[in-house]
Amino acid sequence: MSLTEDEQSTTDAPERKAARRRAPGEAPPAGRRPGAERRRRASRRRSTSNEHGNDWSSWPRYDDAELGFRDYWYPVMWAEQVGKKPVPVELLGERIVLVREKDEIFGLHDRCPHRGVPLSLGRRQYEGTISCPYHGWTYELDSGRMCAALTDGPDSPINNKVSVTTYPVEQRLGLVWIYVGDAQGDDVPPVERDIPNELLDNDFVMGGRWDIREGNWRFAAENGFDEGHAKYLHNTALWRLFKVMPAWNMTRIVEEDGWLIRVQDEVHWEAEFPGLGTWTNRRWWKRMPLPDAPGKGKRVNPVIKGLNIPGFVSFRLPGLLRVAYPEFIHFEWYVPVNEDQVRYVQMIVRFETGAKASIFKAKYLSAIRWLFHGQFTGQDAWMVDVMNAPPEKLYRPDLSLTAIRRHIEQVAPTVQVDRTPGSKRQPPAE
Ligand code: FES
Ligand SMILES: [Fe+2]
Repeated sequence: MSLTEDEQSTTDAPERKAARRRAPGEAPPAGRRPGAERRRRASRRRSTSNEHGNDWSSWPRYDDAELGFRDYWYPVMWAEQVGKKPVPVELLGERIVLVREKDEIFGLHDRCPHRGVPLSLGRRQYEGTISCPYHGWTYELDSGRMCAALTDGPDSPINNKVSVTTYPVEQRLGLVWIYVGDAQGDDVPPVERDIPNELLDNDFVMGGRWDIREGNWRFAAENGFDEGHAKYLHNTALWRLFKVMPAWNMTRIVEEDGWLIRVQDEVHWEAEFPGLGTWTNRRWWKRMPLPDAPGKGKRVNPVIKGLNIPGFVSFRLPGLLRVAYPEFIHFEWYVPVNEDQVRYVQMIVRFETGAKASIFKAKYLSAIRWLFHGQFTGQDAWMVDVMNAPPEKLYRPDLSLTAIRRHIEQVAPTVQVDRTPGSKRQPPAE
């Protein structure tokens, strides 16, 4: 596998910056521990009533899944961003600290059981351990066991009696993946289960970025798979400056190998609205776009042709979008941070090596990163942040949204509950 680009949108994890800024005794910032206003926003979005429009009560599991689903591997940042210094990560509402020891990255619950201080503020006092900054309780990275309470002597009665939860962590595709779930040891599913096969079986070059965006992960996921918006919201995007988009489509969703795929049955380039006029995205300078499936273009990459996908846009659990074009594929992961924020991991992949890979990399850095992974998906971020549903009134193209919701009810993944220590919903496991 040729991973020639591991670059990032943020050289410093936002969580770490926040932790550093915080003075002793200062309340955590709103983004990390949603405050009253943010909680209100989240709860407004949960379905409570059907009187003003459709709520989400037809999809109860989905409705409950504000914090996402357990028993999946989630990508969180570039592996090279985790050094010896501890890095805090919030994932599905759980606080995790990532620590590198040589080539391996370890994940531990980011809370010292003594008095609840984040271990991510701690020191790397001894090899293979992390020490809490407050009283020096020292934890083994691999087991989470507190092996030495440094300020109570080697015979402290509490040594080896306390531990913190550890999280399985893997490095693949240049990313750090964390498993959140109840499986342990050999029962933890391999990380490859949650990575598309095309990324495991082929050489490729990629460019990507990740950031933390406002809005619940479900809004980001629905936005990604949303049939209707691109033709309107993105028709001002520079990324689409020379490529025309349809006026409207007739779409159907098919399911293949765990992917939901949007298949276009009809593509309309313009439409007459009586009394209003013509609606079209056609302009004289815009090229007509691609055929109706990624494998049908004039120049199709053999790997993409081999995938034989009947439509451009596919979605799979726990929250991964694949947009396949004839010559490249764009992936985006919607990783739940908490009720109000989503970790948005974008990756564009070309199955090329050698000179072609280098050319792509240059193109990514000079243009695609800004036009596509910046301005274009920034328009999506804007909508995900400002939307406020349910209630909602759905229209025909929203069958893409309801397909996700129905799929989740059928597959029935385990809903994450609030595991914050002190939470009324669930006490801490440790
Ligand atoms: S709070 Fe961690 S050692 Fe006291
Ligand atoms: Fe979009």
